[in-house]
Amino acid sequence: MKLTIIGGGGRVGAGAAFALQCGGVVSELQLLDANPAAAEGEALDLLHGTALTADQRIYAGDYARAANSDVFLITAGLRRKPDESRLDLINRNVTLFVQILDSLKDAGLRQDALVLVVSNPVDILTQLACQRLGLPWQQVIGLGTMLDTSRFCSLIADEFKLAPTQVKALILGEHGDSMVPIWSSAAVNGLPLAGLPQFNPGFQTKLFERTKGSGAEVIAKKGGAGWAVALSIRDVIHAIALNQNRLLPVSSMQQGAYGLRQICLSVPTVVGRKGVVEQVEIDLWPKEKLALQNSAKSLADTLAKVKI
Ligand code: 2OP
Repeated sequence: MKLTIIGGGGRVGAGAAFALQCGGVVSELQLLDANPAAAEGEALDLLHGTALTADQRIYAGDYARAANSDVFLITAGLRRKPDESRLDLINRNVTLFVQILDSLKDAGLRQDALVLVVSNPVDILTQLACQRLGLPWQQVIGLGTMLDTSRFCSLIADEFKLAPTQVKALILGEHGDSMVPIWSSAAVNGLPLAGLPQFNPGFQTKLFERTKGSGAEVIAKKGGAGWAVALSIRDVIHAIALNQNRLLPVSSMQQGAYGLRQICLSVPTVVGRKGVVEQVEIDLWPKEKLALQNSAKSLADTLAKVKI
């Protein structure tokens, strides 16, 4: 499978390329960036390691060479300032993102290509990609709350000194201020988290607020996320490449689950080789479902203000 990373010269794009190189599943990685030297440098550095990883082709290219890609990963974008919400980024990044979409269309996008949007605000930009690329909605996916969910599980495990891979706790909705913690199905090795003695409202608030603030926390400390977002991207790309039908909290155009339509945000979504297989309306507590619907309203309000 050939994957082109638009933004491959940046921290997130290059990190995703490294995670995918180590994963050994994607056979061809093209890095593309507004700063060609950065894409060439990252591609060369990655190439130098291919003898130690897998039989992959890694190179820097351009939109023309990208036209035959199976999957496009879009990480290009300006980073949020520590005190800036993701949605504040919107107009700074919309202009850049629309240019990228138009370049993809001009170069000739395959009608069976898939697009994974990471650039922020990811839900809004995923919606724009749906509207402007002319691909079936199932083929346009946003990273959504994959990273938030990984942070949530990892921070819970760290707090309780549990094995992180055994903690399963979803964040749904917007990848942003209105994201929703799903405690109703949170578990450790299949056992409800609610059964843990330390599990109390104070714990829930502390862990969720830390998760929600993690993006800004990482930006303040090191300028922006890199490793965990790269691993989150890897999991989505592998679900596509290996046709895994994994249930992932990714963003896509809603088709009615939880009463949501015509808005992109994260609900439990089965992801395979053709993109979105199914959006699964798992049971939620009433307050969780309401918060998810409020998250959709918040995104719709913002979308209405987008100057395209
Ligand atoms: C974050 O939450 C990059 O938006 C991403 O750090």
